[in-house]
Amino acid sequence: MSEKPSVVWMDGELVPWEEAKVHIMTHALHYGSAVFEGIRAYHHNGELYIFRLKEHMKRLIDSAKILDISAKYSVDQLCEATVRVLRENRFQTSVYIRPIIFVGAGGIGLDFSNNPVQTAIIALPFSKYFAKTGLRVHVSSWRRIPDSSLPPKAKAAANYVNSILATREAKKAGYDEAILLDHHGYVSEGAGENLFLVKDGIISTPPITASILEGITRNSIMTLCRDLGYRVVERMISRTELYTADELFFTGTAAEVQPILEVDGRRIADGNPGRITKQLMELYSRVVIGEEEKYRSWLTPVYSR
Ligand SMILES: Cc1ncc(COP(=O)(O)O)c(C=O)c1O
Repeated sequence: MSEKPSVVWMDGELVPWEEAKVHIMTHALHYGSAVFEGIRAYHHNGELYIFRLKEHMKRLIDSAKILDISAKYSVDQLCEATVRVLRENRFQTSVYIRPIIFVGAGGIGLDFSNNPVQTAIIALPFSKYFAKTGLRVHVSSWRRIPDSSLPPKAKAAANYVNSILATREAKKAGYDEAILLDHHGYVSEGAGENLFLVKDGIISTPPITASILEGITRNSIMTLCRDLGYRVVERMISRTELYTADELFFTGTAAEVQPILEVDGRRIADGNPGRITKQLMELYSRVVIGEEEKYRSWLTPVYSR
């Protein structure tokens, strides 16, 4: 019952943590030719529930397809492997799961046709991504990568240099997180989160054409909002709408539902998490641990299967 990972799943095998290594010539290390996922499993009452496992693995395979990397395992095989690695590690804590498909060692050239494709699933104990609830953010000087250059729809390793630039800038300037605009100047998303805006009771979020990663938490939250009777619209959002919003929040696997209290030095409404944001935070926190029967199909139990 160790909380430290003992094994990693690599290309069909469970490999001891210390031996889960790659060669220095790994193509992905040099050129970012990798796609990955971030998945959470929540520990509750002795059970570990993986949140929307299948949807994450589908997105992983789609990301590989966009990068023209041929995935070696099916969605079902990857889901099975994830359960296996969690069980084998016997986690008794909440976990972050990182599946990755990457181009392995071969020639130094860009064309990876003859390089092996490798697959790994790593799981780590994990709790909160942000140390606090309620963030001070700014609009980044970096723009979100457009589909015509580096497709943000793919969760590709290379894309995260864009997010890292924005995160580093925000942190150095004393903010908790960055919001990136797209190449047309509309709001895209956070460095590692999707964004929602509430105004006059209507919940808006940028569409997939605003250079976002199509978040699985975003999809879950839109479903919860609609089930609660709220109107949800996917539409282009201008920067100044952020300043005059009634509520703003981020969503993401790591971030969960995270209120934004200040943007570019302007307080959002009264500077406290809004009513709808709080309602969603509370509901989401119950959904992920299996306390909401209606959404149990989103969960994969690890130990009782
Ligand atoms: C750039 C970016 N946008 C949005 C998200 C949210 O996506 P998801 O809810 O699927 O975790 C993430 C996190 O994975 C991300 O890295």
